[in-house]
Amino acid sequence: MIEVTGLAKRYGTFTAVKDLSFAVRPGEVLGLVGPNGAGKTTTLRCLAGIIPASAGTARIAGHDIATDPVAAKRTLAFFPDEPRLFDYLTVRQHLAFVARIYGVTHHEALAQSLLEELEIADKADELPGALSRGMKQKLAIACGLLHSPSVMFFDEPLTGLDPLGIRRMKDSILARARAGATIVLSSHLLHLLEEVCSHVLILKKGEKIADGTLADVSARFANGEANVSLEEIFIRATGGTES
Ligand SMILES: Nc1ncnc2c1ncn2[C@@H]1O[C@H](COP(=O)(O)OP(=O)(O)OP(=O)(O)O)[C@@H](O)[C@H]1O
Ligand SMILES: [Mg+2]
Repeated sequence: MIEVTGLAKRYGTFTAVKDLSFAVRPGEVLGLVGPNGAGKTTTLRCLAGIIPASAGTARIAGHDIATDPVAAKRTLAFFPDEPRLFDYLTVRQHLAFVARIYGVTHHEALAQSLLEELEIADKADELPGALSRGMKQKLAIACGLLHSPSVMFFDEPLTGLDPLGIRRMKDSILARARAGATIVLSSHLLHLLEEVCSHVLILKKGEKIADGTLADVSARFANGEANVSLEEIFIRATGGTES
């Protein structure tokens, strides 16, 4: 469960996110969408406790990210758009390192199954320098999944993955949601979000324009038309043409 109330983030005098409230329940996948600079990454970084919010509260699985960050972080995983890896640790060593940090005992079998699920098992003994961009992303995803998080934040997780990788990632996100995980997914790949998300939240200039189930948000901007794509909804919602 993710509960966000009145979240704001200022960088100096610039307000990147203002008065944002929403909730995501276990089993739900929320698509966080908005134009470049709308505040998606800022929101996800605040929720994951990477940067402090300027105002408001965020509770992750019942734990306040500001006042109870260790408990909150134990349950969450944040997958950034540009994963940072350790130059001198191999793929397998990354997973061993993350296992130690999170206290995951007997992690080897789980690590191996994640590497196989993400199809980088054959690179287990390589350093990041010998991985392609998509493989690096997959390694970061494997590292994030190792402590079996119940709340997951994905910031553009699919860029850089090949078509099969994208389909696998989609299936893997859906399988985790079905198993009860709470997921927020930020992406510009709206046709993919449409297939994965149960809910959508549209941000524009740091403010929430709409949120709800995909059907509810679509209905609001569809002007009575049937089968309007999320891309068209996005353009109508953020392009200032809503009446
Ligand atoms: N560290 C920072 N210092 C100052 N301003 C920042 C900082 N990080 C982000 N911003 C500003 O905050 C706003 C929101 O940025 P953010 O990265 O959250 O947008 P985004 O919705 O993730 O965009 P994109 O779709 O391009 O990834 C932008 O105007 C950006 O310039
Ligand atoms: Mg971003």
